[in-house]
Amino acid sequence: MRLVKLALQSQKCLLISFTLGVVSAIFLFTTYDSYLDDYLYLQNIDNQSKLEFSNFLASNLKNYQDLQTFVQRLKIFIDNKSFIQKSNKENKDFQLIQNYFSDQTEQEYKQTLTLKTQKNVKNIKKIEQVVDQLKNLGNTNAFKTISKAMPQSLDWRYSNIVTAIKNQGSCGSCYAFASTASLESLLLLQDKNKFKGIDLSEQQLLDCSDNYYGNSGCRGGDMYYAFAYLKQNKIQSESTYPYIGKDSLCRYDANKGIINIKGQIYFSTDNTTLIKEQVLKGPITVGMDASSPYFRQYSSGIITTTKCGTSLNHAVIIIGYGLDKGLEYWIIKNQYGTRWGERGFARIKMQNGQGICGLNQYIVIPVLN
Ligand SMILES: *[C@@H]1O[C@H](CO)[C@@H](O)[C@H](O)[C@H]1NC(C)=O
Ligand SMILES: *[C@@H]1O[C@H](CO)[C@@H](O)[C@H](O)[C@H]1NC(C)=O
Ligand SMILES: *[C@@H]1O[C@H](CO)[C@@H](O)[C@H](O)[C@H]1NC(C)=O
Repeated sequence: MRLVKLALQSQKCLLISFTLGVVSAIFLFTTYDSYLDDYLYLQNIDNQSKLEFSNFLASNLKNYQDLQTFVQRLKIFIDNKSFIQKSNKENKDFQLIQNYFSDQTEQEYKQTLTLKTQKNVKNIKKIEQVVDQLKNLGNTNAFKTISKAMPQSLDWRYSNIVTAIKNQGSCGSCYAFASTASLESLLLLQDKNKFKGIDLSEQQLLDCSDNYYGNSGCRGGDMYYAFAYLKQNKIQSESTYPYIGKDSLCRYDANKGIINIKGQIYFSTDNTTLIKEQVLKGPITVGMDASSPYFRQYSSGIITTTKCGTSLNHAVIIIGYGLDKGLEYWIIKNQYGTRWGERGFARIKMQNGQGICGLNQYIVIPVLN
């Protein structure tokens, strides 16, 4: 009896191992097959692309786990390269370049675009509504225009109140970076000695302005809610609450808070003069459309194309404006690191209506105490 049982068992084992063998053979064969495809693909890459891709990998500190991923990313890179070359040939106002995003699909890139504006924003065109907001703040001066003549150009970098370019990484935290960037500038404008060298904490806004206030950490949010949070809580510095670029628990320490604010005003307009009037008083936060490849791969010049889109999905700050070869433009400060755009900044054509890249549709300005 025992022997029979053993024999049966070993037969079972044989059957199982045979099945496993066939399955793994099929598996090996298919991976071998795709390796072969990948290998042949690599054999046929032209020398120029090879060189560009290896430079790209080195300068962006990229590496991939396996050959398959490597080839997949290389294919995207080459796809994008032809788009960039084509656009650069056609366009005189701005140039594109391969950058950190060049091995990402459109979908992957769009995942980090997470500005989620308040629902009623589209209706905030009438200035009376801003007046109501000001009444709530008990500060009727916040929106007032400066009486001096409007200069033809303005760049707050020359006043040394624009802090260094940061990098949001793969977390959807644009709203937090736009909030800190504008506050850092406004504080320097208020008192350069007191606030010199102080960077403010995006991570605190990510971790603490969620749920009750309306933001969703790395999944997105709105400067409006970040400022609402700062009405009740003080913002800490980058050094006491550093950026980790992923969701974590709120670790707010009121003792380490630097300042809180009185509140915020927000508006939408068809008239760029109204925006200029506010930028004259300091950098402001804005919503924009960053989803197009023109913005993603932007290198230099003035973005003039209406193909930039007008949906709001990203937040940056406007730090000035200017005029070049008859083109009026905004200067924006982004948070994609200094290797993106013009050392981290971009110029976008100023235009009434929705604005190029949607720049006129959502402006949020923090009001200091
Ligand atoms: C590409 O480089 C290889 C070796 O580096 C060289 O043998 C080959 O001729 C080059 N091909 C072209 C088209 O330049
Ligand atoms: C880059 O290539 C990917 C994959 O083909 C594509 O999704 C994306 O739209 C391309 N971007 C540009 C700027 O061509
Ligand atoms: C824009 O606003 C300014 C200042 O209020 C005004 O002088 C100008 O006429 C407006 N432009 C348009 C096109 O409405």
